[in-house]
Amino acid sequence: MKYLSEEGITNKRVLLRCDFNVPVKDGNICDDSKITKSLDTINYLLKNNNRVILLSHFGRVKSEEDKEKNSLKIVYEYLKKYYDLEFISNPLDLTMVNNSSKKLFLVENTRYTDVPEKRESANDLELAKYWASFADVFVVDAFASLHRAHSSTAGISKYLPTFLGFLVEKEIENLKPLINNENHPFVVIMGGAKVDDKIKIIEGMLKKCDKLVLTGGILNSFLKVMNYHIGNSLASNDAEVLESVKKILNESASKIVFSPMVIVKRGNTNVEIDIQDIEDEDIIYDNIINDKVKELIDDAKVIFLNGTPGLYESEEYSKGTKSLLEILSKSGAQVYVGGGDTASAVNKFNYANEFTYVSSGGGATLEYVSDGKLKALEFIKENGVEN
Ligand code: 3PG
Repeated sequence: MKYLSEEGITNKRVLLRCDFNVPVKDGNICDDSKITKSLDTINYLLKNNNRVILLSHFGRVKSEEDKEKNSLKIVYEYLKKYYDLEFISNPLDLTMVNNSSKKLFLVENTRYTDVPEKRESANDLELAKYWASFADVFVVDAFASLHRAHSSTAGISKYLPTFLGFLVEKEIENLKPLINNENHPFVVIMGGAKVDDKIKIIEGMLKKCDKLVLTGGILNSFLKVMNYHIGNSLASNDAEVLESVKKILNESASKIVFSPMVIVKRGNTNVEIDIQDIEDEDIIYDNIINDKVKELIDDAKVIFLNGTPGLYESEEYSKGTKSLLEILSKSGAQVYVGGGDTASAVNKFNYANEFTYVSSGGGATLEYVSDGKLKALEFIKENGVEN
């Protein structure tokens, strides 16, 4: 497995795995950065006379209805403005590639093959082999998907020489100081909606960082375990997850930091109150910028931000996110940002150029930073064709 930049590719048929899983609202792509970040590799391959077949997943597909809601056609329409490309509407039939004079193809959502039986997500090697039969080389540029060892992110490498594209190289190189855990104090700020799928990540982060600041929906689950009255605020209901939260609190209390102040709605007004005083109102956002957190941000050498203090999309809920981004942008620390929603918030409020690095990955960046590994890359290292 080599970087594409180490060895050029010319005059080949290339399967290029991108991550075009962009957020969509009311039928419009609301943040196209995942697509624009893939363009360097696409342009390079086209310029060097390669025929390029683009593969990507889009959303989660578990039923026929999910297929309708998660078509990559919206990305095809976007790319069509810039490229002369063809759309392959059945990911199980790529024969069109052999009968077309086009140089660029986009295959429909790879996760369509998960219905009726899981294939892509189960890393079905027959499927990987079928896709591989249409190309000479496999280029992986879907950094944000590399925590999934699926047929299109990993399996294909068993059948074709595999290269890591420009985006994956940029991510790996830029995240190196975090992976190597070089500088301290290292402060991790974790927020976002749900704690349920992040327990392992939190445990991994606690092993590496000096302080873990909790905010947003993740914090709510911790508050719930500590018996605060958080009303209907988003929090886990899963007994096993709450048990893990309790264990984390018992074992790592000295590293965990959160704001004692939250914003709730009382009557028609939003008021800031101590968490002790919440009377089952919903938390709009936690006012993360208190003296303790400010001091941590001031003293930190490295900060990793994943997740926001509240919904960043709505005016009412986004104030906590804006003040956090503002204070981070003024910090002397190296600030790294990861997470699809967090990166979108950073773009929306124009802070993209204020930080050391904004990763295109969500779950992938979290897993990578917390334990230094990505499942697809591990598979490719072990099983990939030598090149
Ligand atoms: C992401 O948006 O984080 C990636 O595209 C991965 O999506 P997934 O969590 O549905 O695998």
